[in-house]
Amino acid sequence: LWSDIATCSVTLAMIKPDAVMKMGSIIEAIFDTGFIITKAKMVQLNRMEAMDFYSEHQSKSFFTDLINFMTSGPIIALEVIGDDAVSSWRKLLGPTNSCVARSESPGSIRARFGTDGTRNAAHGSDSIASAARELEFFFPSSGGRGPKNTARFTDC
Ligand code: PPS
Repeated sequence: LWSDIATCSVTLAMIKPDAVMKMGSIIEAIFDTGFIITKAKMVQLNRMEAMDFYSEHQSKSFFTDLINFMTSGPIIALEVIGDDAVSSWRKLLGPTNSCVARSESPGSIRARFGTDGTRNAAHGSDSIASAARELEFFFPSSGGRGPKNTARFTDC
């Protein structure tokens, strides 16, 4: 229906290093909720890239922990399309801290696949403007390649 298409929008979902090994279950949850994945890329961010991606948080006390964690292994960036994608993906994610998520939103992605306030399994853009910026970061329309795929699994 045209009325359905009118509310369909796009966001950037990211599976963080702690949850990459659980990507099958996370992707299943994405599809079960009615989203469509239209782009996917596994990359390992270097410190410059992670600091650029999270630049709005550079003054926060947790910034170094965040950058250390986000550069500790591969991540998976996904372009996700769905009904009101920015807020419905954040709803599926649950509260930022996985411990809080387990009590407040037990079925959420962070409750099911994350550990705590740092290792929280996944990311979602917080606004339509952020989604546009973050999608451009991973999937540049300019013809550039975005972060290079230097992902390597070293634990097997
Ligand atoms: S804020 O201050 O409300 O804007 O921050 P918040 O939205 O809660 O979190 C912003 C991103 O920082 C991550 N975060 C952390 N990372 C590591 N350690 C700690 N303690 C920590 N606290 C918050 C949080 O997961 C958010 O990242 P994304 O990727 O957007 O989920």
